[in-house]
Amino acid sequence: MKGKQTVAMAGLAELVGGGAGSRLLGRVGKVVSALETRGQVAKIGRLVASGQLAIGTHTYGLPTVFVSHPEDRVSIGRYCSIAPGVVFIPGGLHQLGTVSTFPFRMRWGIEVVDSTVRRHGPIIVEDDVWLCMGSTILSGVRIGTGGVVAAGAVVVEDVEPYQIVGGIPARPIGERFDRSTAAALAGSRWWEWPEAEIRRILPLMESGRVVEFLAYVDSRAANDA
Ligand SMILES: CC(C)(COP(=O)(O)OP(=O)(O)OC[C@H]1O[C@@H](n2cnc3c(N)ncnc32)[C@H](O)[C@@H]1OP(=O)(O)O)[C@@H](O)C(=O)NCCC(=O)NCCS
Repeated sequence: MKGKQTVAMAGLAELVGGGAGSRLLGRVGKVVSALETRGQVAKIGRLVASGQLAIGTHTYGLPTVFVSHPEDRVSIGRYCSIAPGVVFIPGGLHQLGTVSTFPFRMRWGIEVVDSTVRRHGPIIVEDDVWLCMGSTILSGVRIGTGGVVAAGAVVVEDVEPYQIVGGIPARPIGERFDRSTAAALAGSRWWEWPEAEIRRILPLMESGRVVEFLAYVDSRAANDA
C-alpha cells in the first residue's frame, strides 16, 4: 500500500513538474475540459431556452443544473457569483415510502406516473448572491439577496438576505451586515440601476462605506422625486 502511494505521488509530482508525458496529459486535459465546458454551456442554453432556468444579467459561472422533470425550475438573479462545482438539484427526489426507491418506469420506458417524481419547489437565488466552490442547492430553497453559501455547503432551507451559511446541512455561520443595514441594502435594488451608473460609482460599490452608499441611494431617490 505504501509503495502504491509513493508511485501515485511520483506521478502527481511528474505532472506538476512538466515532463513530455505531462505536456501530453496537459493538452489532453485542456481538450477534455474545453469539450466539457462547451457541453455544460450548451446544456445551460437549452435549459434557459426551455424556461426551466433563468439567469439574471452579469451573473457568471457554470453551475451544474440537474433537471429531471419538465417542472423543475431554477431562477438566478443579477450580479451573482457562481464558483466552480456549484450544483442545483431542483427535483429528482425519488419516493422514500415505497417498497423500492428505484425509478422502474423511467428506466424501463414505461409510462411515467407523475407521482414517482417529487420536488419541494423551485430554487430561487435572488440578486448579488455568492455561491462558493462546490456548494449544492436543493429544491424549494430561496437564497436571499446578498446571501453567501460557503464552500461545500448543502443548502436545504432558505437563506436570509445578506446571511452567510455553511456546512451540511447548511446553517447560518455569519451575517454580512446588521439586520437594518441588510434591509436598506436590499431595498436599494442597486442591481436594477443602469450599468453606466454602477460603473461610475464603482469605488463606492467596492468599498465598505455602506453608510455612504445608503446616503447615495437616498440622494438618488430624492433626485428622482
Ligand atoms: C464563505 C467564506 C468566504 C467565509 O469565509 P470567512 O469570512 O473567512 O469565514 P471564517 O473563516 O472567518 O469562518 C467563520 C465561521 O464559519 C465557519 N466556516 C467557514 N467556512 C466554512 C465552510 N465552508 N463550511 C462550514 N463552516 C465554515 C468557520 O469555522 C467559522 O466558524 P466559528 O465562527 O465557529 O469559528 C468561506 O467559508 C468560503 O466558502 N470560502 C471559499 C470561497 C470560494 O469558493 N471561492 C471560489 C472563487 S468564487
